[in-house]
Order: sequence, then C-alpha cells, then structure tokens
Amino acid sequence: PLVSMTDMLNKAKAEGYAVGQFNLNNLEFTQAILQAAEAEKSPVILGVSEGAARYMGGFKTVVKMVEGLLEDYKITVPVAIHLDHGSSFDKCKEAIDAGFTSVMIDASHHPFEENIETTTKVVEYAHSKGVSVEAELGTVGGQEDDVVAEGVIYADVQECKELVSRTGIDCLAPALGSVHGPYKGEPNLGFKEMEEIGAATGVPLVLHGGTGIPTADIQKSISFGTAKINVNTENQIASAKTVREVLAAKPDEYDPRKYLGPARDAIKETVIGKMREFGSSGRA
Ligand code: G3H
Ligand code: ZN
Repeated sequence: PLVSMTDMLNKAKAEGYAVGQFNLNNLEFTQAILQAAEAEKSPVILGVSEGAARYMGGFKTVVKMVEGLLEDYKITVPVAIHLDHGSSFDKCKEAIDAGFTSVMIDASHHPFEENIETTTKVVEYAHSKGVSVEAELGTVGGQEDDVVAEGVIYADVQECKELVSRTGIDCLAPALGSVHGPYKGEPNLGFKEMEEIGAATGVPLVLHGGTGIPTADIQKSISFGTAKINVNTENQIASAKTVREVLAAKPDEYDPRKYLGPARDAIKETVIGKMREFGSSGRA
C-alpha cells in the first residue's frame, strides 16, 4: 500500500536498518524497484526528482503509473512516493496534490532562516494531508538533474537541531561529505557529525548519494541513526551497461522490450542487493 515515510523510517531507526530510496527514471525502473521490494518483503521509497517527473510526463503520471503497478503486481509491502530535492513550496504542494505521500524540501542552499521558513510552510501543508517531510542542511556534492553543488559544505550540528525542533520535519538529510553520482576515490563521510546530529535531533537521518559507499560505511551510518539511503546512479549504471551489452551482441535488435527488459532485470538485481545491504529485506 501507499504510505508516508514516517512509520517506515521510525521503525527502521528503532530496529537498526535503513530503507532504500530508489529513484524512478521511467516505467522499467518503477517496475524493477517494486518487483525487488515485493520479492524481498522490504519497505521501499520511490524517489522522484523534479527532472525525472518532467521526463515521465508530470507528477500525476508518476502517481497513476505507481498506483497501476501496485494493483497489477499485487504489491503488499509499504511503498512511499517521495519528491526528491523539491525546490520550492509550490513544487512540494503540486506533488502532494497529485498524490505523493512524501516530499523533500531542499532549501539547503538558501540562508538558514529562509530554509526554516520554507520548510515550516511545507511541513504545515504536508502534515495536514498525512504526507511526510524531509529537509536538508549543508551541501551534497556532485550533480543530480537540476541540483548542482559548487562544493561540499558539511551540515552544522546546532543548525540541524534548530531546524528539526522549529519545523517538525520527519527526517533530516545532513550533508556530511556524500556526493551525487560516482565518487572520485573513497567517500569521506563525517561520522562524528552524523553521530552528534543523530543524537541531538532524534529524527531518522537520510544519506544522499548512496551509490559507491562501501558496506562498512553504510553500516556505520545506520548505527549513527541513518534510516534512509538514496540510490540512483548505481541503478542507472546497471541499466545502461545491460542495454549496451544487448545491443552490442545483437546490433540488429530494435524492439525496446528486448533491451529494456534485460535492463529492468539488472535494476531489480541491483535493488535487491541494496535492500540486503541496508538490512530492510524481510522487514515488511
Ligand atoms: O537524491 C538522490 C540520491 O541522493 C542519489 O544519489 O545517484 O549518487 O546514488 P546517487
Ligand atoms: Zn540526493
């Protein structure tokens, strides 16, 4: 069933695992992620960036596609449709009105008081509709769609504490050295800050840029209160690699089902691997 993230993340934090947010890019990604979640008996968060929503048609198309698959696939595990890196109150409202069950308001690049103000407005509207809210502090490195970082800025512990208590958000993404897209070398996450922020705020923490983080760092993050880990690039790489292989082996192939079907299987396998690594398998 479609639910907000609140219960799934609070349960994950209490029981010591993380729920994966896997980003949607098209129909095949959506199918693969839902198939993986059902096969693993895992809760799942479908992440939808504004750019990906635009690509697929719009927020309404995304919601109806997901609702259709939940029925056709007879999905029994908890599923959240979450706006990833929402850029404004208006975008968050548009997603909520279209049927999203969760939103992220990413006002982290604005001055602190402005971040608080925008996030508060989103929380008021979202909570009145039973929708959960994620907010961000600091800067995640790299680039994802419209979200481009100039550099990596670590979230400040005091600001995190204040943001959570003044806005009433359900979970917090403190940027602590993670990067969207592949890492250049090993990631260097601020675990000391993560532990402090987890303890000071009490809310489940979110780790963006989940692609390429070593298992040991994933486990450490979970032990410091991270209950949601976002993954997109790794699924895109698995999908693109498969399409290249199929078309290289069969240069005359033109039926999209013949190369996107195998790509879908590759995404499903990648998501299953992440669910096991994050410990969410068997928790639904
Ligand atoms: O918001 C989405 C994630 O942070 C995805 O990061 O593409 O590096 O896995 P990733
Ligand atoms: Zn992100």
